Amino acid sequence: MKTNEIRQKFVEYFEKNGHKKIASSSLVPENDPTLLFANAGMNQFKDAFTGKANPKNKRVVTIQKCVRAGGKHNDLENVGFTARHHTFFEMMGNFSFGDYFKKEAIKMAWEFLTVELGLPKEKLYVTAHHSDQEAADIWHEQEGVPRDRIFFRDDKDNFWEMGEVGPCGPCSEIFYDHGEEHKDPNADTSECILDDEDRYIEIWNLVFMQFEKYKEDGEIKKRPLPNPCVDTGSGLERVSAAIQGKYNNFDTDLFDGILSSIEKISKTKYSTHPKWMRVVADHARSASMLLSDGVIPSNEGSGYVLRRIIRRAVRHLDLLGVTETSFYKLVDNVFESLGKEYKENAKNKDFVVKYLRLEEDSFRKTLASGLKLLEKEIAALKNEKSNTLSGVKAFQLYDTHGFPLDLTEMILAENGLHVDESGFNLAMEEQKERSKKAGDFSAQADNSKEFYGIKESKGDTSFIGYENLEAQATLIGKVDSGDHLALVFNQTPFYAEGGGQKGDVGEIQDESGKTIAFIQDTKKPVDGIFAHYVTEDTGFKIGKNYKLIVDGKARKLTMCNHTATHLLQAALIKVLGKHIKQAGSFVGPDRLRFDFTHPESMTKEQVTEVESLVNTEIKKQIDVSPKIMSKDEAMKMGAMALFGEKYGAQVRVIDIPGFSIELCGGTHVQNTSDIGYFKILSEASLASGVRRIEALTNSGAYDFVDEKLATLEKLEAMFNSKGDLLLRNAKNLQDNFSSANKEIKNLKDKLQTINAQSMFDGVQEISNGLVFKHIDINSDDDMRKVGDLFIDKYKNGVCLITQEKGDKLGVVLKTFKNNKDFNCSNILKESMNKFSGRGGGKPDMAQGSVDISNKDKFVSDVISHL
Ligand code: SER
Repeated sequence: MKTNEIRQKFVEYFEKNGHKKIASSSLVPENDPTLLFANAGMNQFKDAFTGKANPKNKRVVTIQKCVRAGGKHNDLENVGFTARHHTFFEMMGNFSFGDYFKKEAIKMAWEFLTVELGLPKEKLYVTAHHSDQEAADIWHEQEGVPRDRIFFRDDKDNFWEMGEVGPCGPCSEIFYDHGEEHKDPNADTSECILDDEDRYIEIWNLVFMQFEKYKEDGEIKKRPLPNPCVDTGSGLERVSAAIQGKYNNFDTDLFDGILSSIEKISKTKYSTHPKWMRVVADHARSASMLLSDGVIPSNEGSGYVLRRIIRRAVRHLDLLGVTETSFYKLVDNVFESLGKEYKENAKNKDFVVKYLRLEEDSFRKTLASGLKLLEKEIAALKNEKSNTLSGVKAFQLYDTHGFPLDLTEMILAENGLHVDESGFNLAMEEQKERSKKAGDFSAQADNSKEFYGIKESKGDTSFIGYENLEAQATLIGKVDSGDHLALVFNQTPFYAEGGGQKGDVGEIQDESGKTIAFIQDTKKPVDGIFAHYVTEDTGFKIGKNYKLIVDGKARKLTMCNHTATHLLQAALIKVLGKHIKQAGSFVGPDRLRFDFTHPESMTKEQVTEVESLVNTEIKKQIDVSPKIMSKDEAMKMGAMALFGEKYGAQVRVIDIPGFSIELCGGTHVQNTSDIGYFKILSEASLASGVRRIEALTNSGAYDFVDEKLATLEKLEAMFNSKGDLLLRNAKNLQDNFSSANKEIKNLKDKLQTINAQSMFDGVQEISNGLVFKHIDINSDDDMRKVGDLFIDKYKNGVCLITQEKGDKLGVVLKTFKNNKDFNCSNILKESMNKFSGRGGGKPDMAQGSVDISNKDKFVSDVISHL
């Protein structure tokens, strides 16, 4: 039975038993910050188990795509080494939300395996949690499983939880016996034969969900669920192996196509290097599926897990002797083997291929040098009889050669060595510190101690700039950094640079209303402290009151650009797809810049579509409402957050109803119509896989359009026409211009031919019946052309053509082909040598130049050789 058929039978069986088929969720859990990737079928039903949601269907069946390559469930290190681990796998599952419980769950699992699939009962064993006599009795009394095939196990094996928090419960598992020949001779089976994990493979887990783990006051606590539920999961690859009589999952039909492509690409047989090929095959599946769900290789979070997977695969391809970018060639096989279950794959294929190529290309640039460095280090370690690579070296491999730590670890492990991991982490931290300092001028001066001092003694600055552009404030601190003076007040309407938005500028007035300084920038050198930068100390006194006035025009324009950036991001996702992620942004009063992940340049049509989507939202006059809410609530509303950005428990959400919702601390317009108009200036590549858009809004955009219109008006006046007629006239002019150019060239050629005839008058006879002429031509004429014309006319001719070009004399010496008496190149070179000229060529044509002062002597020298 093929894997596709098993998948189908599973769904049909449970549908027959009253279950509703639900599609797999994305591998990237939506609104679940506790999970990096979907790791089990139950993830998407978390709220149904805990009672937060009340699903319409109480019985559900799914085929869920899962990745276990990070977090609590991580199988990355096992891939290739065991017969049953994958980073990507499919989990078949049936679920009951307060409907049936143990009896029915056990009955259906047993019936599906033994009747529908026909697995022999004598090859199956079951387990129950040691506290769950009830489950064991059901297995025995209801299904007739002999007592000696039922084993009790403790929490370690038989209590399932998805992560640190979430629904959980005791479980009961079904094992398949692959037979005596797969016995692990080293396994300790004194307590339970199933501890031989080579011979007995778990193929189904029935979780009786009864509890929920949650975090309160920093502690993990457990409470009972409102209704007992069932969550079962059966690994499709393992069931396939059992049904198809294979021991290793990689030997099932699911992997046939992928492995034979790897054989072709590497020109190596699977049997020669099965482990390496399995790693590549497994990683091809997880990398393709993660990309298809919009994860992009990057240096953090889920993107970094993907990057590690791809780089491990490339290293194994390299071991297999593959030196060209090839990993992407497996995408077709991967998607084909997964059948029609995951509809999004077909749509995303091009995108997946592009990113795999990009990532492999970029890693291959440093792979060889990194491997060489590592080999050297390994040899040195062996020499020194040490077994630990220093963290600094591992970091160098990471930083300069793109080697993820686990890749370095894996290569070292192959040599019985390991890495000083804490040294690596330290080096990483130090680099982060360094780059943080380099990017921030207020920190560069390193006055942070003084700012911390202000914070400790006077407390934080309170920001009142969402509602106000002016305020009275008391000066609570001054910090002189040499170039600038930073002023800290108890409160401020000035926005400090953050979230891509530039800090406010404005002025300070004293009590009499006199402007005493201009604020050039506002930043937060330490959390909570707003530093207002002025050029010099014009007598500021701590404890005195000042009036702070934000430059309202600049601030309003900045707000237009900031809200437009949110609209732009939402529009990009609509037009290009869900893989679009913010990779940086800058929002100032005069322009906005938005960097995002996308593998290729946008077409002109896409740019226009994005622009017009944003302008449509502007025209709709939508109220923009900032809301403060808990982070959980925001996530539930689907708010976009920046990965890796730290948010507090309470977050600020900018909601542009129906179009965009984002976590953001920036300042925004009250209504989209305030933005006026949005215009994209450019779309270009920033780094591999990252694009940058620069755009204008409001007065910047109007000025831009005005300028274009002014140019257009000038053109209209020049052509005395408008619209289509103007375009036609311009096109005609262009056509006329190019045909006139052609004509001119023809005429020039003709003229040159005519001129040449007179130039050729008075040829001299030289030896062997040859004729010669020295022709000195105008700077406009083409020396080689004249030479050709001469030889056309005098089949037995030799000519020396000279042409003055500034302080140089250009020279061509030409004769007919196969002239036995004469070698132009030799003759010219000889004369050139005498007069420090440069040149050379072939026997029938040589070319060069000499200093103009040597003209006459040079010409006579050439002639003397004839
Ligand atoms: N959640 C359980 C598992 O992943 C059963 O589906 O094993």
